[in-house]
Amino acid sequence: MHMHRLEKIWLTFGFSMLVVFLLILGVMTFSMGMAPPSSHHHSIDPTMVNETAPFDKPVLKKVGDNEYEAIMTAFAYGYAPGTLEVPAGATVHFTITSPDVIHGFEIPGTNVNMMVLPGEVNHTTHTFKKPGEYLILCNEYCGIGHEMMKTTLVVK
Ligand code: CUA
Repeated sequence: MHMHRLEKIWLTFGFSMLVVFLLILGVMTFSMGMAPPSSHHHSIDPTMVNETAPFDKPVLKKVGDNEYEAIMTAFAYGYAPGTLEVPAGATVHFTITSPDVIHGFEIPGTNVNMMVLPGEVNHTTHTFKKPGEYLILCNEYCGIGHEMMKTTLVVK
């Protein structure tokens, strides 16, 4: 079949545009992968939370001068680690996710109030100036044990 010159030109043009488009798409995907829109947000497989670092070992650890990192999980119906204790004035960086359903992470009397979605890693930071017992509670209905889902952070 004979192809007209004009058709050839258009075909070449169309193909070039496709290549250019794919290149742009590739570059965009690549650069987005390198710098996600929110660098403080990522997700993991919710069914693998308890096997995925750092959530396989929930912990409260000292990371600086009166600065702590709390690696936590919110699950039906509780939080891990179960008890948290820091000195007065401590800044705590919370990193939390859920292996099952949506939970809440609220510390009444502070501005800490997070939604904890399955496999979504959420962060917040708070400085606990006043000593006392701070209640950490779930404010998202998550099932029969929802009302009991709470823990305590002790500031000494
Ligand atoms: Cu967990 Cu409500």
